[in-house]
Amino acid sequence: MPDIFPTIKRPTLLLDEKTARRNLHSMALRARQAGARFRPHFKTHQSAAIGEWFRDLEINAITVSSVDMAQYFARAGWQDILIAFPFNWREIDEVNQLASQIHLGLLVESRDTARFLNWHLNHPVDVWIKIDVGSQRTGLAWDDPEAVQALAADLQRGRQLRLRGLLTHAGHSYRARGAEEVCALHQQSMQRLTGLRDQLTQAGLPALEISIGDTPSCSLCDCTGADELRPGNFLFYDVQQSQIGSCQPADIAVAVACPVVALHPERNEAVVFGGAIHLSKDAFDLDGRPAYGLVCLPQPNGWGAPLPGAFVRGLSQEHGVLHLPEEDLARVRVGDLLCILPAHSCLTVTLMRSYLTLTGQVVPTMHSPE
Ligand SMILES: Cc1ncc(COP(=O)(O)O)c(C=O)c1O
Repeated sequence: MPDIFPTIKRPTLLLDEKTARRNLHSMALRARQAGARFRPHFKTHQSAAIGEWFRDLEINAITVSSVDMAQYFARAGWQDILIAFPFNWREIDEVNQLASQIHLGLLVESRDTARFLNWHLNHPVDVWIKIDVGSQRTGLAWDDPEAVQALAADLQRGRQLRLRGLLTHAGHSYRARGAEEVCALHQQSMQRLTGLRDQLTQAGLPALEISIGDTPSCSLCDCTGADELRPGNFLFYDVQQSQIGSCQPADIAVAVACPVVALHPERNEAVVFGGAIHLSKDAFDLDGRPAYGLVCLPQPNGWGAPLPGAFVRGLSQEHGVLHLPEEDLARVRVGDLLCILPAHSCLTVTLMRSYLTLTGQVVPTMHSPE
């Protein structure tokens, strides 16, 4: 394996392909064991080249979080794409264009939007009703069956609309810690969704599918009963996921290699070139205070385990301020590289725009310059 570190001058997103492919294989297997369609969320990697790893496993349905991302992956040959973000009326022209080319899915949570789509869509699309099972971000409340039924009836009448089912993202699982808590929440979400579906069936609607997809539940729980799984973060995982218990630190498949630019032994700190514009300001809780990443040493085959007691304690635009235990700080020199495991890999990927694999290949994303 070539030594990639001497070539690195600026913050660089390293990709451990072997670990990422292992994460992918194990999630594909979990979906198969649950008897569910696997529709992975591509907002985590955002790369046509990495999408090919999924095709290698005969995965042909994907999730994205924006119309731009749907256009990018449609250009890369994906034919079955769900935009898992509330439909934005102002992008109707782009949506019509996509719907004329591929099998497109949309999320709807209001009767106004159902009417708008019915009026403006020129091509058939699948529609999913977004249900809020407790995360309080988007969706109709799981315990308001009348509202869901009224929307479902509108969608059923829609000219170009094929009502597929109920879809949720149980984002509140991110506040749980450990398999027991995550899976208790997952069971509660599934009971809420299946209960709602049963009420709708009794009211005369055709049997609706259930689509779920948060990485903690999909990594840790038995997802039998769901028709579709849409996790995304599992591919790379990150420190937030390892804190939840969805993965081990050794499963984290991306790290940002950052040059050390200053040392402050008087306060046990090193400063790296690698700030909020590289890592994002997403944080995790470390003994009651926010931290923005864990610190590892580069190794010939990637990076080592996180240094105990070392973490990114602050970020400004380009600076990362790292707290390092005294013995680790004593080994670090200005000009060295340190590898930072990100708090939230999806945002870091968006900011970094391309990857460098451990074998020295540059992998572009949809944000890479042409
Ligand atoms: C609607 C929807 N589906 C699936 C996902 C993927 O979930 P995760 O990031 O937990 O893998 C997300 C992430 O935000 C989402 O919003």
